[in-house]
Amino acid sequence: MALTFRKLHQHFVGEASPLELRTVRDEETLARIRAGMDAYAVLVFRDQSFSDDEQIAFGERLDGRLHQGTGSRAFTKSRLGNEALSDISNLDASGEIMKADDRRRHYTLGNRLWHTDASFVDPPGRYSMLHARVVPPVSADTEFADMRAAYDALAVDTKVQIEELRAHHSVAYSRHVLGFEFSAEEQEKLKGAIHPLVRTIPRSLRRSLYLASHASRIVDWPVPEGRLLLRDLIEHATRPEFVYRHAWRVGDLVIWDNRATMHRARPFDDAKYRRELRRVTTLDIEQPAFAAVGS
Ligand SMILES: [Fe+2]
Repeated sequence: MALTFRKLHQHFVGEASPLELRTVRDEETLARIRAGMDAYAVLVFRDQSFSDDEQIAFGERLDGRLHQGTGSRAFTKSRLGNEALSDISNLDASGEIMKADDRRRHYTLGNRLWHTDASFVDPPGRYSMLHARVVPPVSADTEFADMRAAYDALAVDTKVQIEELRAHHSVAYSRHVLGFEFSAEEQEKLKGAIHPLVRTIPRSLRRSLYLASHASRIVDWPVPEGRLLLRDLIEHATRPEFVYRHAWRVGDLVIWDNRATMHRARPFDDAKYRRELRRVTTLDIEQPAFAAVGS
């Protein structure tokens, strides 16, 4: 049966018809998923049963090369044994719930700020694919905001003002905001990256605001003025009408386009309940083979 999507929000987010992604290898279906990403920016696939290797292999089939870890690798190794698989959990190296003062937990709390994955490196992240393995019995949701709809809703003079601007993104900055400090040696590995503030998504040609908690300043602007502009834009882009809240079920795979969205984790009682999700993120590099959209 053909793959179809049901829209879950007025602007974005498509829920896919039943499909077992770990078995999907045909180029036609992969192209339909990419076309779905162009249209919806976030796709929800229910009841997926990936092993770690299957999740990695699917990520590569859909969108090419994967990031090998990002910010946390400056101070810790993944407990999963594969740097392409990010451990989005509240578990420590021995698989127990992290203590409140665990440094990795403090780092992870930064995911509760609005951000887009791996914007502080170059190439940044394109698609992130997050699979829910263990979900708490209480709400522990992820919110997504549509940066294309947010761009479209900007006043014309704001669009003109920001057209050519570039922002510096740094994970050291976004963590510093919450009081987490990297050592000088760790910061050496985390220089940050510069990206345009307004992006055009290839294929769909939709324009989007490329924003994140990591955005530390506007290039060539006085720092305070740049930070105020970034705050204003993030405030605009995360207004309720642009936000979808995802309540996780075990087996959900949610794919989002980091060029077109921001996201943040919402709080839950992480000292009491286990929450275990795994993520792969692709590199935002040219992929001519993926240019064609399925019919
Ligand atoms: Fe994230």
